[in-house]
Amino acid sequence: MENFFSVADVDDLDQVVQEALSLKANPYSWRELGKNKTLGLVFLNPSLRTRLSTQKAAMSLGMDVMVINMDKEGWALETQDGVIMNGTTVEHVREAAAVMGEYCDILGLRSFPSLKDKVADYTEELFNKFVKFCGVPVVSLESATRHPLQSLTDLITITEHKKVARPKVVLAWAPHVKALPQAVPNSFSEWMCEAQKQGLVDFTVAHPTGYELKEEFTTGARIVSDLDDALAEADFVYVKNWSSYHDYGQVYPLEGDWLMTNKKLALTNDARVMHCLPVRRDLELSSEILDGPNSLVVKEAGNRVWAAQVVLKRILESLKK
Ligand code: CP
Repeated sequence: MENFFSVADVDDLDQVVQEALSLKANPYSWRELGKNKTLGLVFLNPSLRTRLSTQKAAMSLGMDVMVINMDKEGWALETQDGVIMNGTTVEHVREAAAVMGEYCDILGLRSFPSLKDKVADYTEELFNKFVKFCGVPVVSLESATRHPLQSLTDLITITEHKKVARPKVVLAWAPHVKALPQAVPNSFSEWMCEAQKQGLVDFTVAHPTGYELKEEFTTGARIVSDLDDALAEADFVYVKNWSSYHDYGQVYPLEGDWLMTNKKLALTNDARVMHCLPVRRDLELSSEILDGPNSLVVKEAGNRVWAAQVVLKRILESLKK
């Protein structure tokens, strides 16, 4: 594995999940692999889970880790070429990424989308420039359009908790007060569509009209606009809000009942409920679900470590070749 950006960076999904679960069983068995290697984690946006789980994963592999919160501690970054930098930006991504590549063997980058410039966001302008200029492997810690470490985690969690060979998985849109990126649902859908192709799950997406994801992320999924219909016989419900892709970044007045509650849970096959976190209680997901026996959210967050560890392990192994 060279970079980690999307599901396309993994061939056999069950194989990577099983490798992650073997790391969970023996976290320190590869301590020599990362010895004298440095991971740099670059955050342009806030994080709790991604930051800590990726650090822990790297340390368990014997790596040294450096973290920079570019939004607070770094120089204001210019990403556009051909501009005279006489405004607020102080350092160009060309130099900043290249310098970080001098200090690190692997870099991780988190950068959220603008939700204003659809073309720049969906061409992954910043992530691609960072890869181009840093000269070392790059792991996405969530980019404008995807959150692959989260999605790999979600597949690990589904595999661990499934009661049938091919569970029914539902991605369920949920209410929110802010316009949120499509990165998590895009990525979850992309990974579940591939998992469906590989015979691992059956996948349904439920959202109100207007919240259709970009088609390339939902190819093969059943897509419905009736949550109750989607929930019938569901084994896993993945709750997440997102803003409109087609009417980019827009949020519409809420119509219908999209909050996942125990009443809605009763429509399912005793489904386990997932969310990437952070979650706004009783806005995006009900407290009765979060505090109830069907919630997987904390175990899911715990599995972030093994997703990060298997990805870093594979990249370290490719560096040795
Ligand atoms: N799920 C997730 O990525 O959490 P953080 O934003 O806290 O890293």
